[in-house]
Amino acid sequence: MSIDHSSYVIDELISAKSIAARVESLAKDISEFYSDTDKLVVVGLLRGSFVFIADLVRELQMPVEVDFLEVSSYGDAMESSREVRIMKDLRGEIEGRDVLVVEDIIDTGHTMTHVMTLLQGRGPKRLEIATLLDKPSRREVEVKARWVGFEIPDEFVVGYGIDYAQRNRNLPYIGKVRQL
Ligand code: IMP
Ligand code: MG
Repeated sequence: MSIDHSSYVIDELISAKSIAARVESLAKDISEFYSDTDKLVVVGLLRGSFVFIADLVRELQMPVEVDFLEVSSYGDAMESSREVRIMKDLRGEIEGRDVLVVEDIIDTGHTMTHVMTLLQGRGPKRLEIATLLDKPSRREVEVKARWVGFEIPDEFVVGYGIDYAQRNRNLPYIGKVRQL
C-alpha cells in the first residue's frame, strides 16, 4: 500500500510551546513520585516516543538510565493490527528496578497492554507509564497511565516524534492529519 503525501494537510493541534510547558510539569510530578529512587530506568517505546523522551529526561531530577523497546503495531497504516511483536528488546535488566515506560500515544491500548505484561514479567520494583497523548474514546482494553500529557479526540495526529507512514516525525508541534 502506498500513501500519497500530497493528499492531506496537517492542522496544528498542540503548539510546541504548549508541549514544552506540559513536559516540564509532567517531569516535576514524575521527579516527585520517584524522589526516593537510586536510579530510574526510563524505557522509550520506539520510534514514536523519541522526541518526548529526549525532552522529558532532561527535566528529570534523579539519576536516570535510558533504554528502548521496539514493538511492531501499526505498520504504515492508520489502523491498528492488534498484533504486537518485539522488534528490539531492552539492553538492560529491570528486575527490582524503578521503571517508567514512555509512550507517544495510547490509542486502543493493545500495544501498552502487551508491553506492560512483558515488562511486569521481569519483576520490576515499580512499573509506571507516562504517555504524551491519550485517546480515551478509542480504548478497547483498559490501560492505566499514571501520567498523561494531553487527552485528544479521535483524530490521527503527527509530529513531535509521531509519524504518518514514517513522515512528519520532525514537526516541532502536534498536528492532525486532514485528508483533502
Ligand atoms: P494502540 O495499541 O492502539 O494503543 O496503539 C498505540 C500506537 O499506535 C502508538 O504507539 C502509535 O505508534 C500508534 N498510533 C496511535 N494513534 C496514532 C496517531 O494518531 N498517529 C500516529 N500513530 C498513532
Ligand atoms: Mg508507537
